[in-house]
Amino acid sequence: ARRGYHEVVHDHFNNPRNVGSLDKEDKSVGSALVGKASCGDVIKLQVKVGEDGTIQDAKFKTFGCGSAIASSSYATEMIIGQNITEASKITNSDISSHLKLPPVKIHCSVLAEEAIQAAIADYKTKNSSEEQVSYCLALRNNRGAGDVNVPCSRSLQR
Ligand code: FES
Repeated sequence: ARRGYHEVVHDHFNNPRNVGSLDKEDKSVGSALVGKASCGDVIKLQVKVGEDGTIQDAKFKTFGCGSAIASSSYATEMIIGQNITEASKITNSDISSHLKLPPVKIHCSVLAEEAIQAAIADYKTKNSSEEQVSYCLALRNNRGAGDVNVPCSRSLQR
C-alpha cells in the first residue's frame, strides 16, 4: 500500500486539470483569489457561466501545497457542467473525502470551497446589478415611478 497521500491526490497533483486563466474582463467570467494567511497558499479560480446559469468552463492557478493543487483541480472538474446554484453547494468535505485528505490538509480543501463560492459571487455581482437596473428601468417606464418595488428603488439608487 502507498504511504502518505492517497493516489487520487497524486493524480490531480501530477496531472492537474483545467490549469490556466479565463478573460477577467469577460462579463460571463467570475474570478476569485483566496488565500490562507497561516500557510501562505493562494488559489485563483475562475468560472465562465452560460446564460442558463451553467458553468461552461473553469480554470485555476494555485500557488500552494499539493493538496491545494489537487483540491482546485478536482473542484474545477466537478463544477464544469453544473448550474451555479448546484456548484455553490459544494463543501470542502465533498472535496476532501474524494481526495482522502489527511486532517492536517483539510484546510486546503476549505480554500478550494471558498474559491468556488467567491468566483460565483463575483460572477453574480458582475451581472446582477446591470440586469436588475435595466429591468427596474423598464418597470418604472411602464408603471410610473410610484409603483417601483423596494428592491428596484434600491438598485436604481446605485
Ligand atoms: Fe495551506 Fe495546503 S498547506 S493550502
